[in-house]
Amino acid sequence: MVEMLTIRRTATMVTGLAFALVATRALEAQTAPTTPAAPTAATQPAPPPGPGLTIINEKCSGCHTTASVFSQRRSPDDWAATVQLMVDRGADLSPDDENVVIGYLAENFTAPAKPAAK
Ligand code: HEC
Repeated sequence: MVEMLTIRRTATMVTGLAFALVATRALEAQTAPTTPAAPTAATQPAPPPGPGLTIINEKCSGCHTTASVFSQRRSPDDWAATVQLMVDRGADLSPDDENVVIGYLAENFTAPAKPAAK
């Protein structure tokens, strides 16, 4: 009798597990991104050379890859804000470096300005 019970329990558990697996798969399928993925470093053209690139390679690669910088497209204002934010976080840039980097990013990795916030 005890044996029967054990077998039954195991069967219930296996069914439960299988269900959980199917449910997880279904959820994964549902949450799969519908928009194409952002371009990855591999598909990025090499960033153009310049003093800005030198500074970025030196000063912006400590906390994250520079690919995470060059994969972005921002308006000049947004770049200024981003670079300022990184300096606030600890990026070691002199004010001159900051201006060079902002200019470089604004020129080469630009995006149309966002419409004014609602
Ligand atoms: C002291 C560490 C640090 C340094 C140095 C640093 N960053 Fe960052 N940066 C971060 C962190 C942490 C994040 C991720 C958090 C986030 O997404 O806001 C980030 C994210 C970013 C992003 C993505 C932000 C977004 O909104 O998706 C960009 C672009 C960026 N950094 C640019 C730069 C540039 C340019 C420099 C050099 C001037 C730099 N970072 C140097 C810490 C740093």
